[in-house]
Amino acid sequence: MRKYFVALLASAGVLAQSASAFNVGVADESLVGDGIVRFVPEHFDITVTPELILSHEPSAIGAKPGNWALNPVYEITDRGAMAVIDIPAGTSLYGGGEVTGPLLRNGQKIKMWNTDTGMYLVDGGKRLYQTHPWVLGVRPDGSAFGVLFDTFHKAELLTADDRIEFVAEGAPFKTYVIDRNSPREVMKGLAELTGTIEMPPLWSLGYHQCRFSYVPESRAREVAETFRKKQIPCDVIWFDINYMDGFRVFTVSKDEFPDPRRMNSFLHDNGFKSVYMIDPGVKVDDNYFVYSTGKANDVFVKDAYGKEFHGKVWPGDCAFPDFTRPETRKWWGELYKDFMANGIDGIWNDMNEPSVFDGPGGTMPESCMHQGGGNLPAGRHSMWHNAYGRLMVEASRDGILAVNPDKRPFLLSRSNILGGQRYAAMWTGDNEASYDHMKLSVPMSLTLGLSGQPFNGPDIGGFAGNTDGDLFGHWLGFGAFFPFSRGHASCDTNDKEPWAFGKEVERESRIALERRYRLMPYIYTTFRSAHTDGQPVMAPVFFADPADADLRAEEQAFLIGSDLLVVPAFAENPVLPKGIWEKLSLVKGDTKGKYQAELKVRGGSIIPAGKVVQNLNENPFEPLTLIVCPDARGNATGTMYWDEGDGWSFREGNYCKLNFTARRDGRNIIVTIDRAEGNYPLDLGRVNVEVLSGGKTYRASGAATSPIKVKI
Ligand code: GLC
Repeated sequence: MRKYFVALLASAGVLAQSASAFNVGVADESLVGDGIVRFVPEHFDITVTPELILSHEPSAIGAKPGNWALNPVYEITDRGAMAVIDIPAGTSLYGGGEVTGPLLRNGQKIKMWNTDTGMYLVDGGKRLYQTHPWVLGVRPDGSAFGVLFDTFHKAELLTADDRIEFVAEGAPFKTYVIDRNSPREVMKGLAELTGTIEMPPLWSLGYHQCRFSYVPESRAREVAETFRKKQIPCDVIWFDINYMDGFRVFTVSKDEFPDPRRMNSFLHDNGFKSVYMIDPGVKVDDNYFVYSTGKANDVFVKDAYGKEFHGKVWPGDCAFPDFTRPETRKWWGELYKDFMANGIDGIWNDMNEPSVFDGPGGTMPESCMHQGGGNLPAGRHSMWHNAYGRLMVEASRDGILAVNPDKRPFLLSRSNILGGQRYAAMWTGDNEASYDHMKLSVPMSLTLGLSGQPFNGPDIGGFAGNTDGDLFGHWLGFGAFFPFSRGHASCDTNDKEPWAFGKEVERESRIALERRYRLMPYIYTTFRSAHTDGQPVMAPVFFADPADADLRAEEQAFLIGSDLLVVPAFAENPVLPKGIWEKLSLVKGDTKGKYQAELKVRGGSIIPAGKVVQNLNENPFEPLTLIVCPDARGNATGTMYWDEGDGWSFREGNYCKLNFTARRDGRNIIVTIDRAEGNYPLDLGRVNVEVLSGGKTYRASGAATSPIKVKI
C-alpha cells in the first residue's frame, strides 16, 4: 500500500526517483514569527495533507535567517513522507504528546495513530489516544527549540540523540521550527502557532469525582452529600455512560434518573457542577431521534462501498458522525441544546479515536470515507482518523457555546491532536490501579503540558482494577496538584471515593484537597498564563533552571507554575533545583503522614493563597494570604490574576491583576500590593502575610491598601 502510494506520487511526476528514496526539496522557507521558520516541501498539496493543528496560517515576515541551524530534510521512502532534522550534541528532547515512558524522550520511538488502549497495553504503550507531532529540544546551555510537523496522518516519531525523524504515511507536510532562548519561550512560540486553552470556568479547577458510573440518582446524591458531610472539598460530580437510556447518546435513562433537572438542581444547590459523557457512536435504531435525524441529514461515515458504516461500541451497532462535514458538526452541535437544558454544566467526549470494538485495530476500517466540506477535503479514514476526536470536540464546543453563550464551556476529550487544546481539556485515558501507573502519571501529564495541552491529568487512583488505600493515598497526595484533578474508577472495581479506604486515607485526602483549594488563587493565575502565553500549568523541574543538566530527567517532582515545587511522597532521591526553596505548609497536618507531597516555594517569589473552601462558589479571599519566600537579598515578587470565574467579561477588562513585591528593610520584610491591570472589583480587606525564611515562618497582617511589615 505504501509502495503504491510512493509509486503513485512518482508516476504523477511529483517526485524524482532514486534507488530507495525520493528526495523532496523545500519550496519555501520563511520566517513567520520571532524565531519561527516555516518549511514548505515542494509539491505541498493541502488536499492530501489537510491542516487543523495551527490556529491560523501565519504570514511570512522575512527570509529564513542566514545562520539558521535546524533544517528539515524531506524524503519519501517506502515508509512514507519523512522529515529528518539533525540536532546538536547534548540536546535533551521532550514532548510527543501523550506518551508512556520517560519524560526525557531521547532514544524513544512512538506511533501516532489514536487508539483505545486500555491500561496502555496496545503496541506496548507505543501509541495512545492522542497525536502530537511536536518535539521540544533543550540544548546544554538551556536555550531551546521546538519542531512541529504539521500533519495528523498516521506517523512514527523517532527522537534519537542526534536527530529527530518523523515519518508520516501520507504526503509531505510543512514543518515549523521555533528557535529561542529558553523552553518557556519555545512554549510561547508553540502557542503563537497553535493557540492556547480558553480561560476555563473556575469550577473546573476544583476536584472532580467520577466513576463508571454513579447510578441511580440516589447514589449520585449520596456521593455528593458525603463530600459535604465529611467536609472534603469537591466541585464536580461526573456522569458516565450508565446515565443514558441504553447507551444512546443525548438521552437520559428514565429508570435511573427520572428527573435529570431535579438531579442537577440538587447538585447546584449543594455547590456542585455536573459533567455528562457523550460518545460519538450513535446507536443504529430508527426509533431514536439522534440516529433518525442523523440519517435524514446524511451525517454518518460511509464504508468503501458508500454504505453507512456500522460498528459496535457500548450500545451495540453504531453509526459514526462524519465530523469532517460542516453540516454534521452543525447537527451535532445542535443536539446539545435540549440536553444542556437539563442543567448540565460540562461535557465529556470519550471513545473518539474513534473506538470501534469489532473494527480492525479497534477502530473503523481505513477504507471508510469522509466527505469533507468547507475547507476540508474528502478522504479516506486513513487520512482523517487522528483528527476524528479533534473535529468532534470542535463540534461539541461550538454547540455548547451556542446554547450557553455567556458561560465558558468545559469539555474533556480522550482523543485529540496537537492544537486541540483550543477546544477541550484532556485526560490520559484508562490507566490501571498500580504504583507503576501512578508514577507514570507524572511524566505523562508533564509531556502533555510540554505539547501545548496544559489542562490535563490522569484518572487519580487508577481506572482499571481495585485500588487499595495506600495507592489511593499516595496518588491523591500529589494528584491534588494535577491541572485537571479527577478521581475515576471502572465499573467492576471497588469504590474509590476519598472515604472508601478508611479513616486515615480519608483524612489525608481531605488534607490534600484542602491544599489544592487554598492554592486556587495561585493555580488560577497559572491557568491565566496558560491561556495568554501557552505556559504549562504543571512543568518539569528543569524549567526552574534549564541550564542545569542534572534536572533534565527528573520526572517524580514537578512544578506548578514557576514558583511551587511538588515532591510526591513516593519520590526517591528526586533531583531538585538549586537555590532557595522553602518548605510550605498550607493546612494543619500537611507536613506529617506518609501521603502528602512536600511543597516548596522558590526563593524570590510570592504565592497568593486563599482559605480552605468546600467548592469554588465560596469566596476564597477571606482572607488572601501572601506566602513570601525572599531571595538571598530579601526580595520577592509575585502576581495574582482573578476574575468572575466564568463568562467573558474579563475580555472587556473585568479582571484584576495584582502585583506583589517584597523587600528587606533591616529586620523587616515590607510587602506591597499594587493593582496592575483590570477593573474587577476585588475587595481584599485585610491580608495575611507569611514570610518563609531559613525554615521558619514569620507572620503579620494588614490592610491590602498599605504596605505590610513583617518582622523576621
Ligand atoms: C472508556 C473511558 C472511561 C469510561 C468508560 C465508560 O473506557 O476511557 O473513562 O469510564 O469508557 O464510559
